[in-house]
Amino acid sequence: MKVLGVETSCDETSAAVVRDGVEILSNVISSQVALHRPYGGVVPELASRNHLQLIDTVIEQALAEARTSIDGIDVVAATYGPGLASSLLIGLNAAKGVAFATGKPFVGINHVEAHLYSPLLANAVPDALPTISLIVSGGHTILAHATAIGKHTILGQTVDDAAGEAFDKVAKLLGLGYPGGPEIEKRAEHGNPASIDFPRSMLHDESYNFSFSGLKTSVLYFLRKNPQHRVEDVCASFQEAVVDVLVGKIVRATIELGVNTVSASGGVSINRRFREKLGAECARRHLRLLLAPANLCTDNAAMIAALAYYKLPSGGQADFSLEVAPSIGLGAGELSCPHA
Ligand code: KG4
Ligand code: ZN
Repeated sequence: MKVLGVETSCDETSAAVVRDGVEILSNVISSQVALHRPYGGVVPELASRNHLQLIDTVIEQALAEARTSIDGIDVVAATYGPGLASSLLIGLNAAKGVAFATGKPFVGINHVEAHLYSPLLANAVPDALPTISLIVSGGHTILAHATAIGKHTILGQTVDDAAGEAFDKVAKLLGLGYPGGPEIEKRAEHGNPASIDFPRSMLHDESYNFSFSGLKTSVLYFLRKNPQHRVEDVCASFQEAVVDVLVGKIVRATIELGVNTVSASGGVSINRRFREKLGAECARRHLRLLLAPANLCTDNAAMIAALAYYKLPSGGQADFSLEVAPSIGLGAGELSCPHA
């Protein structure tokens, strides 16, 4: 079964064709990073206008790269939330239009849930469950226990800023470019991660929740008190504090829940220091680690198409009254159908 997926929840216009939930035939991603860079963050109005300009071409390109036409597609899927309302509207309505005009089934997909399962897709092991899964991006920091596709419990999440948001805000404090994660990572490579003892907020807290806003404030105070700081040391020490908390919570969850497989997805999971530390911990504890390549970690439509394949048999088909849901969370294992 071939699924055409569409994703426009934030600032990436993406369409993909995925066969049987794991075989990626195409995954076209048009990034708007350069468009938003001068503003230091995503400008919703610009994002939606750009999606509108590109969506047809991106869908056509995804079909062409998959060497198919719309006739060869069995199901059409799109992200319906969470994300920017004006961005979501473009992809969701384009996909609904394609499904309606061609009489294909339509599936609405929760973007965060798609992130959660993307490492399974990337490793072509959709049955590698249960997992302890971290979704760590610019908008989310969620630790989940997934027992089957569509069945997951949120163990904890950020109580304030997402980890990626902290990277972006600290980069701004340091006068670095947007998005902040890669900029900080680049400089951290030449810095000493032990030079500044930034707080590991909530690391030893009983819950699996995260907090990154205090860490950002600590960086701010440090910069004020130490105008002669080395940017590389600040970046390395900040990055180390974030990574320690993320890895620490994942490892504790595997022990407390007796789970042997770990996965991580979302933009921050690309971070090399994160991968290195998590990889070392997993190897030491004989845990299986599932990560995805960068183009499946950040926003992409392949993860939307893949998840739709698994949702369809269990009643995931939506009708055309499906609305965007900018603020939905990951949910606790419900199907993505908003009418469920
Ligand atoms: O998953 P994503 O592309 O978009 C959503 O937020 O859904 O994640 C973007 C976030 C940004 O905050 C960016 O700074 C961060 O991921 N990021 C990184 C790295 N690459 C991207 N953070 C740390 N290290 C990186 N290498
Ligand atoms: Zn995302």
